[in-house]
Amino acid sequence: MNTLKIDIKHTRDFINPEEIEAYSDLVKNAFKMIYNKTGAGNNFLGWVNLPTDTDNDTIEDIYKTVNDLSKEIEVFVVIGIGGSYLGARAVIDALNNPFNSFKAISENRHPHIVYAGHNLSQDYLCELLEFLKEKEYAVAVVSKSGTTTEPAVAFRLIKEQMLKKYGEEKTKERIIAVTDKEKGALKMFSDAQGYKTYIIPDDVGGRYSVLTPVGLLPIAMAGYDISALLNGAHFMLEHISETTNLYENPAALYAIIRNILYRKGKSVEIMASYNSSLSYMIEWWKQLFGESEGKELKGIFPAGVNFTTDLHSLGQYIQDGLRMLFVSTINVEKPLHNLTVPYDPDNIDGLNYLAGREIDHINKKAYLGTTLAHVEGGVPNIEISIKKLDEFNLGQLIYFFEMSCAVSGYLLQVNPFDQPGVEAYKNNMFALLGKPGYEKLNDDLMGRINK
Ligand code: PA5
Repeated sequence: MNTLKIDIKHTRDFINPEEIEAYSDLVKNAFKMIYNKTGAGNNFLGWVNLPTDTDNDTIEDIYKTVNDLSKEIEVFVVIGIGGSYLGARAVIDALNNPFNSFKAISENRHPHIVYAGHNLSQDYLCELLEFLKEKEYAVAVVSKSGTTTEPAVAFRLIKEQMLKKYGEEKTKERIIAVTDKEKGALKMFSDAQGYKTYIIPDDVGGRYSVLTPVGLLPIAMAGYDISALLNGAHFMLEHISETTNLYENPAALYAIIRNILYRKGKSVEIMASYNSSLSYMIEWWKQLFGESEGKELKGIFPAGVNFTTDLHSLGQYIQDGLRMLFVSTINVEKPLHNLTVPYDPDNIDGLNYLAGREIDHINKKAYLGTTLAHVEGGVPNIEISIKKLDEFNLGQLIYFFEMSCAVSGYLLQVNPFDQPGVEAYKNNMFALLGKPGYEKLNDDLMGRINK
């Protein structure tokens, strides 16, 4: 069976087995808090059973929407930010051939996915609107609260263009809202307009929502198999819940090792991959762990790198800079394609010693060489291996990270499901923009600015 695996041999110079075993009861307790819903944030545990609770009707409905729309459109715009954006992009980028966006859409292909509402860049939005003018497109506006500024601004702009381009009826058919069941401005607006809507369950927070329609709709629209994604997550759910041995339970082991390293002063975790299509998986992971653990003046700072690219830049710091780092590497065991280094009779570049070798073989040796150098330089490495980049293995990876994050947060004694710190910037921005109700904060901020 294709099972995700954790390898901790490159942490052994830093951690001994007794330290791991000392976490046994704490981890058991953390799992109990998750499965019995007795820990902090227990009203946000809906993600635990999403792989089993997502019914066939929802999947079929998503596929029907995809089939109906993809006949008509070239581009699908996913509007959302944070947890309402990163999970979909992580899976789509991991599975996508990056050069497909240069190809024309043919009848057999799925629409190109583009993103909006994940920033407030005027130039990005202008260029996107310009691009969409010439395209047949539809939109998914994804926001649990329905009030987040970035997606709301992007949606307003795109909707205005759609109304001009398509008129009211067709615009209505081309907009899908993914939002809260009943609360929130987007839900009310969508119902009033008659948009197709999908629900984000109340008990699933943004960063844990990729296996709800938040992720499933865009991923299916991009042409990927969401049932296989959920099956992979289901497989991992069962594997984690049935495995009591700490060394064989990947979520337990990863959570324990990172907490031990943190307590030894390793306060930055760098998630690395030697596969460029995992960049957004790392972005999603950064949000998941950063928002879940970074609170009450605690938490590991999650950073990300793409190797070997970043070995030629950040590699210097990782090897020789402040010793507060550990690396976790997502290792993809098998590439999807075969490619070997060609033989060249002139051998001016001296590469004939590699002729006939797979590029992936060279990449794996780069990984091993880097890890050995890092360990020697005081930077441990945790390896997270998946067999290959397909929906089933990515489903496992996602569920593994979600469960590890919840366990790790409880080991750190924080609520892994809230994000009080995210509000601070929003309140300041609203006050500075003059939003009604924020007058006092505006006065305070202006006083600080003009001091
Ligand atoms: O994880 C989170 O809660 C956040 O990243 C949210 O997903 C993000 O702020 C977007 O929120 P909303 O879906 O309400 O627009």
